[in-house]
Amino acid sequence: MAGFGRDFEDRKTNNSRMGLGVFRVLALCVAGLSAVCDAIDENSTYWQERQQVLASEQITIMGQDQILNADEQAVNEFLMERKMAEMDASFSSLHYLPSKNFLLVREEIEQTDVFKFLKLMPKGAALHLHDTAMATVSWVVSEISYWENLYMCCVAGDQLLLKFMAVPDTSCNWTLVSDKRASYSSAEEFDRELLGRLSLVLDDPVEKFPDINAVWKAFESTLIAMTGMVMYRPAWEAYLYHALLEFMEDNVLHVEFRGTLPRLYELDGTELTEEESLQVYEKVSQKFLSDHPTTYFGTRYIYAPLRRVDNISTIWDYVNLAKRLQQVCPNYLAGFDLVGQEDLGLPLKDILDPLLTLSEGEVKVPVFYHAGETAWMGMSPDENLIDALLLNATRIGHGYAITKHPGAKQLALDRDVPLEVCPVSNQVLMLIADLRNHPVSGLISEGFPIVVSADDPSTWGAVALSYDFYEAFMALAGAKADLRFLKQLAINSIKYSGLDNDNKEELMNMWQQEWDAFIEEMKRLTSSHGRTINPTFTCVSSTSQPGF
Ligand SMILES: *[C@@H]1O[C@H](CO)[C@@H](O)[C@H](O)[C@H]1NC(C)=O
Ligand SMILES: *[C@@H]1O[C@H](CO)[C@@H](O)[C@H](O)[C@H]1NC(C)=O
Ligand SMILES: *[C@@H]1O[C@H](CO)[C@@H](O)[C@H](O)[C@H]1NC(C)=O
Ligand SMILES: [Zn+2]
Repeated sequence: MAGFGRDFEDRKTNNSRMGLGVFRVLALCVAGLSAVCDAIDENSTYWQERQQVLASEQITIMGQDQILNADEQAVNEFLMERKMAEMDASFSSLHYLPSKNFLLVREEIEQTDVFKFLKLMPKGAALHLHDTAMATVSWVVSEISYWENLYMCCVAGDQLLLKFMAVPDTSCNWTLVSDKRASYSSAEEFDRELLGRLSLVLDDPVEKFPDINAVWKAFESTLIAMTGMVMYRPAWEAYLYHALLEFMEDNVLHVEFRGTLPRLYELDGTELTEEESLQVYEKVSQKFLSDHPTTYFGTRYIYAPLRRVDNISTIWDYVNLAKRLQQVCPNYLAGFDLVGQEDLGLPLKDILDPLLTLSEGEVKVPVFYHAGETAWMGMSPDENLIDALLLNATRIGHGYAITKHPGAKQLALDRDVPLEVCPVSNQVLMLIADLRNHPVSGLISEGFPIVVSADDPSTWGAVALSYDFYEAFMALAGAKADLRFLKQLAINSIKYSGLDNDNKEELMNMWQQEWDAFIEEMKRLTSSHGRTINPTFTCVSSTSQPGF
C-alpha cells in the first residue's frame, strides 16, 4: 500500500514540474469533489487506466517495502526537495552531473546537498572493491611516496614502476624517488605528475582517454605502478589501514574487498607466501577493528586472481590456493572470484572442472564472480552470467548484461542473487556514458536485488562509497526514488554480504542504531537551520580530503 501514498506525492511533483493541471483535478476528483470531476468525466476511464499503470510500477520499484516513520518522512521531504531542485535546474540547463564524465564533474558533485546528505548517511557495507584502488591517491603520494628506499623507473610503453628496496636490483634502471623529486623545480610539481601516474585524475582526461581501450590501458597502468609500491609489507599495512579509515569515515561499517593476492615483500626482497600475505591483511584489519570497535564492524577478503591465463592448470593452482587460504584464514576469506577484462579471459564454462571443486569436499569456498560486464551480447563472456549463477555465486560483479537474459534473470531472482553495481566505474571506464541510461535502471524499477559499490574509487578521485550512492540515487533510480530506496540499498548491502546469519544480524543492529542517530541529526539540522544542510557540518574528517 505504501506505493499509493507515494503516488499522490508523485502527482504533486509532476504537476508542478510539467504543469499538467489535470493531475490536480484528478486528485480533487478522488477526494470526491464531483463538480470538478464532471469536467473530465469523458476521459475518466483513460485517467483511471493510466493511474493503474503508474500505481503498479510504484509497487515494484526498489525500496517500496520500506515504511518510513514520522522522522524519516520529514527527512525524506527535505531530501526530495533538494533532489528535485537539482533535477529541475538541470532539466533546463542540460548540465546534469550524472550524465557527464565523473572525472570532469567530481568537484561539482561534492558541492550538492544530496551528496553531502549521502556522505553522512550510514550506508552499511561496501561489497565490490579492489585492493590497490581503495585509499585516496593523494594520500599515497603525500604519505607513502615520501618513505625512504622507494625507487622508480620507466619501462617500455611508458609504464612507471615503483618498488621499495634496500639495494636496487638490476631488473630496471632504478632512481630513488627522493632524488627524482629533488630534480624537479618543486616537490609539488613532481607530486602532481606522480598523482597522474597513479590515477586517472588529470587536467585533460577527455583528450587523454579518447576511447575505451585508451582508458583501460591507463587504468591498468596505474594499478601496476601502485601495486609495486604498496605490496611492500609495511606500506601495505599502512595502505590497508588508511583505506578502511576512509570507508569508516564515509559511514561504511563493513568492507568486502577483492585482490589478486600479490605476495608482499620485505625491504631485502624476501617475499612472503600467499598464506603469510593474507595473514598480514587479517592482522591489519583486526587492528583497525580493535581501534574502532564502536564505529566499524569488519573486513573480509575475496581472493580474485586474473582470469586471463593460457591454460587450465593455472586455474587449478588458483582453486587449490583458495582452499588453502580458506583453512588458514577461515573468518577472513569471504570467497573466490576471477578478475580482468572479461572479453579477454577464458569463459567460465571452459574451466568448469576446477571451479566445481570449490563447492566440493570438506573445505567449501563461496564464489562471487565478475560476470556480464560486457557489451557483447550472445558471445561467450556474456554467457558467463549463466555459469556464475549455476555455480551458486553469492553475488555477481557488475552483471548488467543480465537484462538481455530473461532466463538468467529469473534464475537470479529465484535464488536471490544480487548484482554488484558500480556506476562511476562503468562510466569512467567507458561502458556507459550517461548514467541515466544504465541498464540497471530497469532492474531497479522491477525491484531486482542490487547492491551499489565503488569498484576502484581512488583511481578516479572518489573517496569510498558516497559518490556511487549519489549516481545511483540521482541517475540509476530516477526521479521518484527517495529515502526508501537509499535505506533499501543499505539494508541490501548487509543482507547480501558474505557474512553468516549471526554476523548479519549483529551488523544490521549496528547499522540500525547509526541510521536512527542519523535521522535524528538530519531532522534537527533540516528543521533548525532554515531547511538546509549547514555547510559547516560535513562528515569529511581532517584525515581524508575528497579527491585530491
Ligand atoms: C638510467 O637512469 C639515469 C638517471 O635517470 C640516466 O641518466 C641513464 O641514461 C639511464 N640509463 C639507461 C640505460 O636508460
Ligand atoms: C600454463 O600457463 C602458465 C602461465 O600462465 C605457464 O607458466 C605454464 O607453463 C603453463 N603450463 C602448461 C602445461 O602449459
Ligand atoms: C548449487 O546449489 C544447489 C542447491 O543447494 C545444489 O543442488 C548444487 O549442487 C549447487 N551447485 C554447485 C555447483 O555448487
Ligand atoms: Zn571489479
